[in-house]
This record gives sequence, C-alpha cells and structure tokens, in this order.
Amino acid sequence: MKTILTGDRPTGPLHLGHYVGSLANRVELQREYATYVLIADVQALTDHADEPERVRRNVLEVALDYLAVGIDPAVATVVVQSGVPELAELTIYYLNLVTVARLGRNPTVKEEMQQKGFGAEVPAGFFVYPVSQAADITAFRADVVPVGEDQLPMIEQTVEIVRRFNRLYGATLVEPAALVAKHARLPGTDGQSKMGKSLGNAIFLSDSRDVVSKKVMGMYTDPQHVRADLPGIVEGNPVFSYLDAFDPDAAAVAELKARYRAGGLGDVAVKRRLIEVLEAFLAPIRTRRSELARDPAMVERVLREGTARGRAVVRETLGDVRRALHLEG
Ligand code: TRP
Repeated sequence: MKTILTGDRPTGPLHLGHYVGSLANRVELQREYATYVLIADVQALTDHADEPERVRRNVLEVALDYLAVGIDPAVATVVVQSGVPELAELTIYYLNLVTVARLGRNPTVKEEMQQKGFGAEVPAGFFVYPVSQAADITAFRADVVPVGEDQLPMIEQTVEIVRRFNRLYGATLVEPAALVAKHARLPGTDGQSKMGKSLGNAIFLSDSRDVVSKKVMGMYTDPQHVRADLPGIVEGNPVFSYLDAFDPDAAAVAELKARYRAGGLGDVAVKRRLIEVLEAFLAPIRTRRSELARDPAMVERVLREGTARGRAVVRETLGDVRRALHLEG
C-alpha cells in the first residue's frame, strides 16, 4: 500500500478552500493509501511565535474539522507535529542540503513573506519552513502528498532534498509526488485568487447558515454586471467558481452560466442558489462537528493514538537517516 502524508497549520479553522484543495482528496483516498494527516503546530509557530495559545486551541479545532468532513481515524492517522520531535532533528540534517539562495526563491514563501510584511526581518524559522515540511513528508515515507496548488513549491523542494540526500548518502528516502485537486485553488469571497484565513475572504467549514448567507450575499461578482438584464461575465466570477466546485448538478450550473452571459439573470438569484448549495454541503459537516465537540476526550484520544503510531514510523526513518549519515545511535 502506498502512503499519503499531508497536513495543515492550526492557525484557525479550516475553510472551503482547504476542502476543495486537499481535504476532499484525503477523504476519498484514505482507504486506498496508508494516510497520515499532520496537524502542523510546530510549523504554525514559525509565523505565530507570539500566539502559542492560539496555535494550541486550533489543534483541536482542526482535528474537529478533519473528523467532521469524514477523515476516519479507523483508517487514517491524525498526527500532532509537536508530539514527534524527531521531525525537528531531521530538519537539522536537511538544512545542510539546501542553500539560503534556493530558499529565497521559493515562490510560496516569497508570497507569504510579502503578505505578512516580513521583508528582511523574516524569522529564520519561517524562512526555512519548506525544509521542515520536507522532513514531515519524508519522515512518513510519503509517496503522494495531496495539497492545494500553493504547496507545489514545497513538494518540489522536498524532491530536491530527497535526490541530494540519496545521491550523497545512498538510497534512503522516498521521493514524493504532489496530488493537486481538480479545483485546486478556490478564490476568496472578495474575488482575490486565493481563499485564506488571514485574508478575511474565507467561508469556514464551521460557519453557521447565517454567516454563510451574509458572506455569499457580500461576494464579489462581475463588477460591470450592475443590472440583472445586462450580460455578465462568468470567468473569474467567484460565485460561479464555487458553484463549479460544490453544486452536484453540473447541467444546472451550465444553464445558469448561459443565462448569466446572455443577460437576464441577476447576481442575487445566483447567490441564492449558491447559499442553498453550500448549505446542503455544510449542514451535515456542521452537525457532525458539534456532536464531536461535545466529546473532547474522544478527539484527544484520536490525536494521542495517531501521534504515537506516527511517531513510530518517523523513528524508523530517523534511524535510517542517522545510519546513512554515520551518526551515533
Ligand atoms: N504548509 C502546509 C500549510 O500551510 C502545512 C503542512 C505542514 C504540510 N507539513 C506538511 C502540508 C506536509 C503537506 C505536507 O497548510
């Protein structure tokens, strides 16, 4: 059986972009692959060093999101990163195989640095997080990493590290491949190209019906489409991107698009449909989430057991790595 490893930073609850980019694939593949899902709290500290309580709180929130969307702890292993300190040791060894210049070229890190306004004052831990992510991926010997499009540069850097390691020290690490979802990048409600929890343009899996309705009604559409009878533009219109991703009735969506393009279909009518479509998707997730939230001891147990199972795998990989490096023990 091949192995999947993927994960999320617990800096807030998960949103529709996470679902479309990666969660849906994890749920779909968890029975065909040995699946590990990492709650990357150590990585979350690389840009939230001043908010450890927030990271801690969100470990549980993210775990609830996972279980609510259908990640099944009977088949998939949910691992809390800080419970596997061996990952930090692997990171130290991999740092020798990467140059500072190469890290500076990672487009995702560059974009995030800009977003966070880091400039030259970027925390070193944040700058090197792609290396710790390479440690995560290789420690679990992942063959496949289901991720959103924004994480592709991380997989690319991981592959480089793996090749370099294996060439220098002998075949030790497994080379991973990214698996990008069909609707890899869901735009934000504001029409920005990416939905992000820190961008204020996300619909969260745990949002109530009221909140979802308000967010959808306030969504960016075609700015030229000021009256229902005017023709509108569908491309780059996030309301239609969401329908494409979440409306199971593709024929109905195609018809709506045609009417919107021709003129005669108002934004409000499309948004009303989107609210219903999202509600049909989110209602069962919300119900399951609130049931699970009533039993935090059960969730803690899933995390404890998953972390112990994950740690055992990582220890084996670390043993191989230490042997390859001629280190003690
Ligand atoms: N960087 C990912 C994010 O921001 C989280 C992550 C940590 C991850 N380790 C990983 C993703 C390993 C895939 C594989 O969401």
